Amino acid sequence: MDFFDVISKRTSVREYSEKEISRESIEKIINAGRLAATARNVQPWRFVVVTGKERIQQLAKLVSPNGAFMIGASAAIVVLSVDTKYYIEDCSAATENILLAATALDIGTCWIAGDKKDYSTEVASFAQAEGDERLVSVIALGYPAKPVEPKEKQKLSELIKWL
Ligand SMILES: Cc1cc2nc3c(=O)[nH]c(=O)nc-3n(C[C@H](O)[C@H](O)[C@H](O)COP(=O)(O)O)c2cc1C
Repeated sequence: MDFFDVISKRTSVREYSEKEISRESIEKIINAGRLAATARNVQPWRFVVVTGKERIQQLAKLVSPNGAFMIGASAAIVVLSVDTKYYIEDCSAATENILLAATALDIGTCWIAGDKKDYSTEVASFAQAEGDERLVSVIALGYPAKPVEPKEKQKLSELIKWL
C-alpha cells in the first residue's frame, strides 16, 4: 500500500474478528515502532506483546471502561518507557508508527491512553515493567470485524498558515 494511502486509511478499529495475527506481523509492526524518531536518539521504550484470550481479558479489564472493547482484540502492545525528558513524545511517535504499520498489513488498531490514566501503574505492573519503566500507551490489535471508514478530519486549508 502506498504510504499516503496508509495514512489516509488508518482509523481506530474497536471490533475485531477472531483471526489471529501472526508473530511475524507483530514483529514487523513493532519494528516500525522501534524506528521512530526520539529526542537525542534515546529510544526509551519497551514493547510488551500481550496475546491469549485470558491475558487480553485481564488487560481489557484494567483499561476499562475506555479500553473495554479490547476484550475482542487478538493482541495488544503495551508501550513502556524509562523516565526521560521526552518519553511521552518519543513513545507517542513509536505508537503512531505502530498504528500505521498495522494499517499497512490490514490489521485494525486502537490507541488506548496510558500515561495519564489512573490505571497506568497497574497496567505497567501487568506488563512486568522493570525499574522506573512507566506506561505510555496500549494498542489493541485485530483484523477488523467489518469495514471501518476513516473519520472526517479538519480541512487542510483551515489548518495551514504560510508565513
Ligand atoms: C493519546 C490518545 C489516547 C487515546 N485513548 C483512547 C482510549 O482510551 N480509548 C479509545 O477508545 N480510543 C482512544 N484513542 C483513539 C481516539 O479516540 C481516536 O484516535 C480519535 O477518536 C480519532 O479517530 P481515528 O483514530 O479513527 O482517526 C486515543 C487516541 C490517542 C491519540
